[in-house]
Amino acid sequence: MTHDVTAGPPPAGAAASPAKTDAVVRAQYEAMPYPPRDPAEEAKRLLVGTPSHLPEVNHYLYAGRRDFRQPFRALVAGGGTGDACIMLAQQLHDLKCPAEVVYLDISTTSRAIAEARAEARRLRNIRFLTGSLLELPSLGLGLFDYIDCSGVLHHLKDPQEGFDTLAAALAPEAGMGVMLYGEYGRSGVYPMQDMLRTLAPVGTDHAARIAMAKRLIRFLPPTNLFRRNTFLNDHLSGNDGALYDLLLHSQDRAYTVPQIADMTRHAGLRLVSFIEPIRYEPSTYMSDPQIGRDLAALPYLERAAFAERLASNLTTHIFYATKAGYDTVARPEDTSAIPVLREMDPAELAQGLKPGTPLVANLEGFPWRAQMPPLAGQIVAQIDGRKSIAEIYTSMAMRGGLPVWDEFHQQFEQLYVVLNGINHLLLRFRLGE
Ligand SMILES: C[S@@+](CC[C@H](N)C(=O)[O-])C[C@H]1O[C@@H](n2cnc3c(N)ncnc32)[C@H](O)[C@@H]1O
Repeated sequence: MTHDVTAGPPPAGAAASPAKTDAVVRAQYEAMPYPPRDPAEEAKRLLVGTPSHLPEVNHYLYAGRRDFRQPFRALVAGGGTGDACIMLAQQLHDLKCPAEVVYLDISTTSRAIAEARAEARRLRNIRFLTGSLLELPSLGLGLFDYIDCSGVLHHLKDPQEGFDTLAAALAPEAGMGVMLYGEYGRSGVYPMQDMLRTLAPVGTDHAARIAMAKRLIRFLPPTNLFRRNTFLNDHLSGNDGALYDLLLHSQDRAYTVPQIADMTRHAGLRLVSFIEPIRYEPSTYMSDPQIGRDLAALPYLERAAFAERLASNLTTHIFYATKAGYDTVARPEDTSAIPVLREMDPAELAQGLKPGTPLVANLEGFPWRAQMPPLAGQIVAQIDGRKSIAEIYTSMAMRGGLPVWDEFHQQFEQLYVVLNGINHLLLRFRLGE
């Protein structure tokens, strides 16, 4: 059942089909919309993230060649309090794209927050619907060019059914951005959930369960797996909804890379890339030359599976998957590609990139040191989201003292591997602009 009306108490029959949707999960998100968001904040900033950042969608699913002057239809399945929906709708609005973003969620209180955020931004390109993503086949919404489903499928009784349902709603060459929990990074969470089910069974009052979780956390022995897992901090944010989501969820599971690969294949999709790419390369975490050589020869998904076991700190897996049967990723080998820097100021970054000094990135506790090519600072200073790789070379050449093209391009690719690896550099192509 869907409702194209403004937020308010759910009309009779607004609940998603009880046969399909777990009523307990719905009750949780009605009582504690997640993540907590204040619509008044929209006046101050646009929250951006991943998946679903539009240049990222273009880079990974449309080889950087999506023409946003053409209609674009996106579905945000389990849209929650609106993060992906608002980001996508705002970015499409800014590009003047004739777009429709469909928001779908079982929680009416979450939807009310998402709607208030859209209203604060005067976004008119979002259609808000209340219902379960499992009901998509009966909603008559047509096919989508992109689907976001972040932090939702692992809360379904049958996540594969949810994934398959979403995949069936993709246009022939479209794709999805997904976030699922990571098994190793969440070590300790599931024994905590089990203990809390004993102490404060599902169905007990939310406040009493939260109080019990806080009590248990206070008294955990130092040997406890959850206490030793320093990569999880939602329970430290001071927000009860976050604590509930982490330790008291009634339906929640986590995935390994091979399990995600299987699930994606089953849905008839191809896994394009995990984000951030560098976190899924074993070489990021170790420098032994023999092991490095052995692993470099493995196919991508096997390297990614190795990397998650090795690092053990991936609390979530974010990935893009496509229905297209060809390479959908923009590549720097084509020098007409335009580099786009995200959430970094080129001038500031350029200043910090001194020849001989590595770039240090904190990969959730792992201090990654990346060697940067000598021209890194000069190249970054030229990245403005408009000049292509070739034009950057020309512009630098005009200043003199530049190496030959091959040397420049090799250094650009080195820089690209690092900055794309931490999801700060993407590519797009000029489409008759
Ligand atoms: C952890 S929140 C994530 C929200 C949002 N995707 C984000 O990343 O900020 C999970 C959301 O999924 C919604 N949800 C759970 N099961 C659903 C279903 N079967 N269909 C649609 N939404 C669902 C919940 O109501 C909740 O808003």
